Amino acid sequence: MADSIPFIDLQAQRRRLGEPLNAAIKAAVESGQWILGPQVAEFERDIAQWTGVKHAIGCANGTDALLLILRAWDVGPGDAVFVPAFTFAASAEVVALAGASPVFVDVLADSFNMDPASLEAAIALVKKDGKLTPKVVMPVDLFGQPADYRLLQPIIRREGLKLLCDTAQGFGGLLDGKRAGAIGDAAATSFFPAKPLGCYGDGGACFTNDDELKDRLLSLRMHGQGSDRYEHVAIGLNSRLDTIQAAILIEKLKIFEDEIERRNVVARRYTEAFAGSNRIKTPVVIEGAISTWAQYTLQVESRNLFQSKLRLAGIPTMIYYPIPLSRQPAYAHYPSAPTPVSQALSGQVVSLPMHPYLDEASQERVISATLDAVG
Ligand SMILES: Cc1ncc(COP(=O)(O)O)c(C=O)c1O
Repeated sequence: MADSIPFIDLQAQRRRLGEPLNAAIKAAVESGQWILGPQVAEFERDIAQWTGVKHAIGCANGTDALLLILRAWDVGPGDAVFVPAFTFAASAEVVALAGASPVFVDVLADSFNMDPASLEAAIALVKKDGKLTPKVVMPVDLFGQPADYRLLQPIIRREGLKLLCDTAQGFGGLLDGKRAGAIGDAAATSFFPAKPLGCYGDGGACFTNDDELKDRLLSLRMHGQGSDRYEHVAIGLNSRLDTIQAAILIEKLKIFEDEIERRNVVARRYTEAFAGSNRIKTPVVIEGAISTWAQYTLQVESRNLFQSKLRLAGIPTMIYYPIPLSRQPAYAHYPSAPTPVSQALSGQVVSLPMHPYLDEASQERVISATLDAVG
């Protein structure tokens, strides 16, 4: 068996960040302001400006970022939140945690993102059933690519719903020149280490242009704090971004744009190399979009065999996601539009190594092992 290359190489990034990163961590430790220290506000300003949005509110992780926004909008029992069936569990989990009901929507086979026709079907289903009130649509920018908000937004507006973008995987990507994070009534991201912009532990952020929502989020992340520290005006959470993580993220944001470009170079090379094979379906980036390539995900037949051949060649692969949420034991009882595409994708998707520091020799190894494996 050949030596394995890493699926993601976070140590290569760490070496690049070098001494300034060590100094930033040291300063955060020595300052003694470990919770909501000045680095948190600095990072919130930096990232809001970078994203092109008025407010960024740091919090403990991406799951909380979504939950905080739902809570700030008073989404709760009797409310329907439309969520893609093909995504990570957190997207639906937060809806259930808020006491509302996720309603599953199918995705498009090319982009893996929310299908506008299926969203219409899901809204019609909820209205016909009459038990839930449609409130929020939560598309996910899966694998790094913004959902097609140009097609989703007219439906969302027509129905008088709110748009919450789960951009945990797609933060920093672009749609018609606008950054994911600056799209929608609000957006949420994750700084989990493996995300395109990750920290060295858990972290997350909410984004919005709405001043009132910003104030509610600042309160909710601190136990629903009012004007005084021990006055509580809402039932909130303890969900803050650590000062050390903010210090790390300040340094990482400086190289993020370059890293997105490097990921795009790798993705272009993969897509060109696989273009000649009719046994591999490569991911499609919609017109006007730039992906952050959180994952590079193929669709293949005989996935088990494909994965074992790659493993023998020293190429790790991952399956995101093997079971659609509409079929998961914890979520199968919630309403759902038909999800045939999500079901088909869950049997065929396989992600290849992807990160900004994947050198040409490693790219070649991935490409030739992939082409060999499909014959
Ligand atoms: C689409 C999506 N939403 C939400 C989350 C939750 O983020 P976190 O792990 O920071 O709570 C993730 C993270 O894996 C995700 O991929």
